[in-house]
Amino acid sequence: MPLETKLTKLLGIRVPVVQGGMQWVGVPQLAAAVSNAGGLGILTALTQPTPDALRHAIRETRKLTKYPFGVNITLLPSINPPDYEGYARAAVEEGVRIFETAGNNPGPLIKYFKSQGCIVIHKCTTIRHAKSAERLGVDCLSIDGFECAGHPGEEDIEPIMQLARAAQELKIPYIASGGFADGRGLASALALGACVCRAHHLICTYSADNELRVGREHGHAVHVHSRKVGHPHRCRSSCDC
Ligand SMILES: Cc1cc2nc3c(=O)[nH]c(=O)nc-3n(C[C@H](O)[C@H](O)[C@H](O)COP(=O)(O)O)c2cc1C
Repeated sequence: MPLETKLTKLLGIRVPVVQGGMQWVGVPQLAAAVSNAGGLGILTALTQPTPDALRHAIRETRKLTKYPFGVNITLLPSINPPDYEGYARAAVEEGVRIFETAGNNPGPLIKYFKSQGCIVIHKCTTIRHAKSAERLGVDCLSIDGFECAGHPGEEDIEPIMQLARAAQELKIPYIASGGFADGRGLASALALGACVCRAHHLICTYSADNELRVGREHGHAVHVHSRKVGHPHRCRSSCDC
């Protein structure tokens, strides 16, 4: 059943679910499956070894879906950073119009994407960072509470408090992220003012075979962490290899 929100209209999707970037998991098959199901599938740029490989992944995704999908670029601290600009340029040249940025210092990438007329979703773990990204001109925020997988930040703020605060502080649409796994979670996210609920548990369930295959292709299990190593954490292994 279509459920219209500000963001479904902005992104041109039918179901208010956005798949976040997932290293090793955000591959064409998964992104296309999510987009075909009515949500927004997202390719993870850095899962591809080079910008040219990302071009191929984008072309492959297009063969699998006629619906919109996006590309995630995650900026992590590194002595030898990946060619972020190269990945961004390759995706824009391939016609991608929706980007998810995450991590440190996204300003230059956001500026570039906006200069190319793209829609930018920035993922952050605090309202302070969300407001900075809003000032940088992003179209939408993804607010990751500390239940999320990946990098939940250092503030340990759980999503209900954070989203209630987002409703007071933010002017642009935002996505609820972290632990939203089913229709009840979606309903609570909408009640908290979030336009779209993203739910990797849902996606993991939905695409367990795909996840398993991806894990094996890369020669390791995919671990879904909700906390960083060094903190208490739960994790799920997608296969027993
Ligand atoms: C296996 C896995 C890998 C991830 N890798 C990334 C990544 O590379 N970049 C990123 O921005 N977020 C990454 N994330 C975080 C997700 O995009 C999303 O913000 C988070 O999983 C939401 O919480 P949930 O899993 O509780 O729904 C990853 C999540 C998972 C489960």
